[in-house]
Amino acid sequence: MRALLHSSYGEANALTVGDAPQPSPGKRQVVVQVAAASVNAADVFRMRGIPRMLRVGNGMRRPKRRLLGMDLAGVVSAVGSGVTRWRAGDAVFGEGIGTFAEYALADEDRLAALPLGVDPVDAATLPIAGTTALRALDVAAIGPGTRVVVTGAAGGVGQFAAQLAALRGAEVIAVCSGRNVARVRSLGIDTVLDYETEDVLRTTAPYDAVIDNAGGIRIRDWRRVVVPGGAILPNSGVRGPDGGALMRVAKATWHGLVAPQRVRVFSGTVTSEALTELVDLLAAGRLRPLLDDVHPLDEAPRALAKVATHHARGKVVVTVSPAASRATSGAA
Ligand SMILES: NC(=O)c1ccc[n+]([C@@H]2O[C@H](COP(=O)([O-])OP(=O)(O)OC[C@H]3O[C@@H](n4cnc5c(N)ncnc54)[C@H](OP(=O)(O)O)[C@@H]3O)[C@@H](O)[C@H]2O)c1
Repeated sequence: MRALLHSSYGEANALTVGDAPQPSPGKRQVVVQVAAASVNAADVFRMRGIPRMLRVGNGMRRPKRRLLGMDLAGVVSAVGSGVTRWRAGDAVFGEGIGTFAEYALADEDRLAALPLGVDPVDAATLPIAGTTALRALDVAAIGPGTRVVVTGAAGGVGQFAAQLAALRGAEVIAVCSGRNVARVRSLGIDTVLDYETEDVLRTTAPYDAVIDNAGGIRIRDWRRVVVPGGAILPNSGVRGPDGGALMRVAKATWHGLVAPQRVRVFSGTVTSEALTELVDLLAAGRLRPLLDDVHPLDEAPRALAKVATHHARGKVVVTVSPAASRATSGAA
C-alpha cells in the first residue's frame, strides 16, 4: 500500500511517500481503508522525536515504527477475531495507528460510526483535537456562564474548545493572531482577541477558566487573572516562556500544589462516546471544523510541514483513498 514513510527524526522534508506492507488486525482491532486523516501536533512531535522521551520504545536514533498519523475517517476493510462492534464495509472515524496510509489499524473502541452525509474530511478533523477539547471542558468544569479564555483558538484543539464551550453556554474569550480573528468569529465566537495587539492579561473582570493551547503565557501570569477555585489548563506541548513540554508539566504540577486555582495538565482520550457526541454536533451543523487545507497523500509531507510551524490556520487534512471516500457517502 502507499503510505507516508518516516525513516529518520527531523523535519518534514525527510518524509517520503512510498510502499509499506498492508497491516493485519490484532484480535480487538480493525483495518480501515483511509479516506481522510488529519494532522495533529502529536504527529509533529513524533516526526521530530522531540520531546526525546517519545523515542523510548520507538528507537532512540531512528524510528522503528515507520508510519505516522492518528486521526482517520474511512471504511472498515477487515476485522480481528474478537471484534464485535464493526463489520467490513462500515463507515467509521476515530483514532488509528499510521493513518497517513491507504490502510490503517485501529482499536475497535477508538472508533465511532460515521453518519451518512458527513464528509470524511470534516470527520477526520475531530478525533484527537475534538476529544481533547471535550476533556478540557470537563476538567475545567465549563458550564453556563463560565468566563473562559481559549488560546490557540484557530488551531485544532482551540477551535473545538471555543465552539464547545459556547455550546455549553459559557462566555468565551478566544485568543488568536490578527489574521485569524475573522475566521474564529465566523465560528460564532463573539469575543476574539488578537494577541498581537491586545493583552488577554489586561482584564477588569477575572476569568473562571483558561484553556491554554498556545503556551505563550506563563502559568504564574495566568494565576493573576483567574479567580480562586478557577481552572488553569496549560495544554501546549510547544516550547514557550515556561519552557518545553516537560518543564511546563513540572511547573503546572508545582503551581497545582500552591495556587488557589486548579492548575491541571490532562490527557485527551478518544472514546466512541466522545466521538459520537462530536459527530452528532457536526451532522446537526452546530460544530464546524475550521480547515486550513486539504492535501492528497503525495503531499502529506507539506501537510506535516504546515502543522510544524504551529501556525496552521485550522486543521490540515490529508485525503487518501477516493474509493473509501465514496464508500463513506454510501455511493460505493
Ligand atoms: N492534552 C492532550 O492530550 C493534547 C492533545 C492534543 C494536543 N495537545 C496540545 O495542544 C496544543 C495545541 O494543539 P493543536 O492541535 O491545536 O495545535 P495547532 O493546530 O498547531 O494550534 C496551535 C495554535 O497556537 C497558536 N499559537 C502558536 N504560537 C503562539 C504564540 N506564541 N502565542 C499565541 N498563540 C500561538 C496558533 O495560532 P496563530 O497562528 O493564530 O498564532 C495556532 O492556532 C499542542 O501544543 C499540543 O501539544 C494536547
